[in-house]
Amino acid sequence: MELFEAMRTTRAMRRLDPDRPVSDEDIWTIIEAATKAPSGGNRQVARWLVVTDTERKAKIGEIYGRSWKAVRGGYVAALGDDAPTAILTSADYLSDHMGEAPVIVIPCSRTEDPASIYPGCQNLFLAARSLGLGTALTTVHRLNEAEVKAVLDVPDDVHTWAMIPVGYPLGRWGEAKRRPIEETTYWDTYGEKRPRSA
Ligand SMILES: Cc1cc2nc3c(=O)[nH]c(=O)nc-3n(C[C@H](O)[C@H](O)[C@H](O)COP(=O)(O)O)c2cc1C
Repeated sequence: MELFEAMRTTRAMRRLDPDRPVSDEDIWTIIEAATKAPSGGNRQVARWLVVTDTERKAKIGEIYGRSWKAVRGGYVAALGDDAPTAILTSADYLSDHMGEAPVIVIPCSRTEDPASIYPGCQNLFLAARSLGLGTALTTVHRLNEAEVKAVLDVPDDVHTWAMIPVGYPLGRWGEAKRRPIEETTYWDTYGEKRPRSA
């Protein structure tokens, strides 16, 4: 798949087919792509915890759902009338189905700062997209992170930064809707905009 097309169509895919397995080889491939990303001082602090065990997935899925339900109200209140219904509906769906994803990838590190984790996550999302696999970056489990760590035997000094469901999408790949770049890009001084064609 062409890189720019992959970037345009890599979305938060929260509805995944629970009955279509993902091959180990595809998991290795997307994690290998993740490891090609930069990390501070090339220390390669990320550890990728791949969860395929049905019972453990169900347990961490339940923790995820509970965490989402705890933050949902605050999220809706913060956004007020602008709360995007489609995102909420799909986030609600994931909160009820996280544990049924064929695979859940949990990026971990011993560092206190996740900055060296997210570039790898994005590589993983793009690689998954090119294989036809949907993913979603989620972090709300961190509200109850200790419980997740207990299920997966994660040592006390290791952080679990995200919970990433991986599977074949039930829906279609759409193009990500984003603010126009002319609005979000400044030239030379903060706030100084320029039309793209100039
Ligand atoms: C740091 C971060 C944390 C996120 N946490 C969650 C989460 O806990 N649950 C969830 O459903 N989506 C989560 N998302 C996904 C965003 O809601 C999603 O990227 C955004 O709505 C854009 O979606 P789109 O790419 O499909 O347009 C998170 C995204 C980021 C970058």
